[in-house]
Amino acid sequence: MLSGFFLLKEHEMASILHPLINKLADGQYHSGTQLGMELNVSRAAICKVMKQINGLGLDVHSVRGKGYKLQDPVLLLDSEKIAVAIPLDRLGKLQELVILDSIDSTNSYAMREIQAGHGIPEPGKYLVYLAEQQTRGKGRRGREWVSPFGQNIYLTMVRNVDNGAMKTEGISLIVGLALVRALEALGISSLKVKWPNDVLFDNMKLGGILLEITGDIGGVCQLIIGVGINIHCQPEQMQNISQPWTDLNRITGKNTDRNLLAGNVVMNIMQALSEFETHGLQGFLDEWQQYDAIFDKDVELISGDNSQFGKARGISKSGALLFEVDGITQEVQGGEISLRRAVNP
Ligand code: BTN
Repeated sequence: MLSGFFLLKEHEMASILHPLINKLADGQYHSGTQLGMELNVSRAAICKVMKQINGLGLDVHSVRGKGYKLQDPVLLLDSEKIAVAIPLDRLGKLQELVILDSIDSTNSYAMREIQAGHGIPEPGKYLVYLAEQQTRGKGRRGREWVSPFGQNIYLTMVRNVDNGAMKTEGISLIVGLALVRALEALGISSLKVKWPNDVLFDNMKLGGILLEITGDIGGVCQLIIGVGINIHCQPEQMQNISQPWTDLNRITGKNTDRNLLAGNVVMNIMQALSEFETHGLQGFLDEWQQYDAIFDKDVELISGDNSQFGKARGISKSGALLFEVDGITQEVQGGEISLRRAVNP
C-alpha cells in the first residue's frame, strides 16, 4: 500500500498538481500530512509534487512544524469561471475554450491545430486557447514573451476571416482597443494604446498583441490573435525586457482575478470584431484617438536596422501610422516597425 504512494506516476502527480496549488492558493501554511489526507496520497507524494510546483517557478515555502505555503497566492485558470464572465449572446460564438497547462506558445499551438486540420473554427465562431505557462512565448519582432506559470494572461483566439491579409492591419488596432475596454470594465483607468498594438499604463507596457494569419490569403484565412497581459511579473524575470513594463497587481494593489479578466478579454475581442465587421475601422477612429499614447508626440520609428525621428499624427483610415518628418506626413504600414518615445529628437 505504502509503496504505491511512493510510486506515484506522472499522470497521478499531474492529477494532484492543480488541487494542490488550489489548496495553497490562500497563501496560508498547510501541513503535508493534512494535504496528503485531503488528496488521498502520502506525505512523500505531497513533497514530490511540491518540488514540481517549485520547478514551475512558483515559490513554495516549507517550514518544519507548519507545512507548506505559496509565497504568492495563485489563482488557476478555470473554464467555467471564464465562461461566467461572457454574456450568453457571445458565449454562443465560443466554439471551444481550451486551457493548457504548459505549452511552447498558444499561438504556435493554434497554428499547429489549424495545420493538423482540427483547429479551424466554424464560420463566425471562435476557438480560444489559454495557457498557465508558455515555454517559448512569442512577442512581436521575434522577441520573447516572458510567460511564467499561473501569473499572467496568455491567450489566443482563432477565427476565420475573408480576405484576411487586407484586414489584419485594422484588426490588430481594434484588438488593442478591445483590451482597453476589457480592462476599463474591471476598473482600470489611464490606459493608452500605442500603435500598432501595445496597451500601456502610464507609458509602461501592460499588454501586447501578436497577430498571425494562415490559410488562403486571398480567400478564407484563419486569424490567430495572441494576447498577453501582465498581471504579476517578477523584476528578475523581466530583466531582459528593454521597454518599461508594469502589471495589473502593481497598478491596483490587489490580486487580479485572471478568470474574470480572461472572460472579459474574450468577450470584448468578440464584440470589437463584430463591430469591425459592421462599421470597419472607421467606427474605431475616434476611440483610437482618445487612447492614442503618442498622438502629436515626438517619436522614433524603428524599422529593421533603420531609425528615424518624427512626430506621430494619429492613424489613417486604413490603420497606418501617420508619421511626420520635416513637415511631410507619410503613412507607415505595420509589420516590423516599432515606436519608442524619442529621447534626443
Ligand atoms: C508583443 O510583443 O507585444 C506581443 C506579445 C504577444 C504575447 C502573446 S501571449 C499569448 C500569445 N502566444 C504567444 O506566444 N504570444 C502571444
